[in-house]
Amino acid sequence: MKLEIKNLTKIYPRGKKKALDSVNIEIGEGIFGLIGRNGAGKTTLMRIIATIMDATEGEIYYDGKELKTNKEELRSSLGYLPQSTKLMPRLNIVEFLDYVCIMKGIKDKAERKAKIEEAIETVGLVGEEKKRLGNYSGGMLRRAGIAQALISEPKLLIIDEPTTGLDPEERLYFLNLLSKIANDRTIIFSTHIIADIEHLCKNICVIETGEVKYLGDKTEFMDGIKGKTWEHSGEPGDENILRKEAVVTSVAYIDGKPLVRYVSEKPVTEASVIVTPSLEDAYIFALGGIKR
Ligand SMILES: Nc1ncnc2c1ncn2[C@@H]1O[C@H](COP(=O)(O)OP(=O)(O)OP(=O)(O)O)[C@@H](O)[C@H]1O
Ligand SMILES: [Mg+2]
Repeated sequence: MKLEIKNLTKIYPRGKKKALDSVNIEIGEGIFGLIGRNGAGKTTLMRIIATIMDATEGEIYYDGKELKTNKEELRSSLGYLPQSTKLMPRLNIVEFLDYVCIMKGIKDKAERKAKIEEAIETVGLVGEEKKRLGNYSGGMLRRAGIAQALISEPKLLIIDEPTTGLDPEERLYFLNLLSKIANDRTIIFSTHIIADIEHLCKNICVIETGEVKYLGDKTEFMDGIKGKTWEHSGEPGDENILRKEAVVTSVAYIDGKPLVRYVSEKPVTEASVIVTPSLEDAYIFALGGIKR
């Protein structure tokens, strides 16, 4: 599925500033990473794409069809997992997925059973069928959400910050699961964890205070600061001097001494050595440097 977002602006009724400001994004098949800090506008954008909320200005096209005038049709090929997934706490996974099947119009009981078993197997919830969803952990709930999406077979899957609050093992399991189900599908997933998009997405969008700061290939994103990324190891206070001269992307303290990474055309100090830019460097640079 091809998604075209054109000049999208959102102003909330009681919002002080624009939550989205003339956003232009094209998204094709595969996993697309939407990354940005808290309040960047990720959820706002996803809710508009998922037809839950209208934009103030601008248009979205799904495979050339305008969203606003084709909402019902688009909803049938759309899956949306909101930031806080509650699902149905009193049901167990089998009952829940059976409900999803029925909503989808699958009348044959044996067909439903087979579909449910397959989905539970894919997301790794075998053995957890009797537990109520209300007693599932955060990671299990995210997986249940994916199972639901698999049953609905959406061409477009929108997942809002699925890795927040997951332990490292569960997080990796979940990311692998996403790549497993990404075939011939468009998955948009948002995060503020840079490592999430490291292996998963080819194309990314960096968004900050409602504006697109970068859109495109992840590797090209890093190449943009190649030959301009430096590391300086020095004395306490150096980090503040460097901040005035360059865009600092990270400061780590080792035995009380700062190790500063920064982006600049030329090295700012004699002690600086050139380093290979990381995705994190590129990201923080796109956001204008570290805040704190
Ligand atoms: N219902 C609302 N009314 C007014 N302002 C809102 C509303 N929802 C969000 N906003 C504002 O819109 C901006 C974007 O919020 P949004 O929730 O889309 O960000 P986000 O990138 O999803 O953040 P997070 O990472 O914290 O989930 C923020 O400034 C937020 O305060
Ligand atoms: Mg959000």
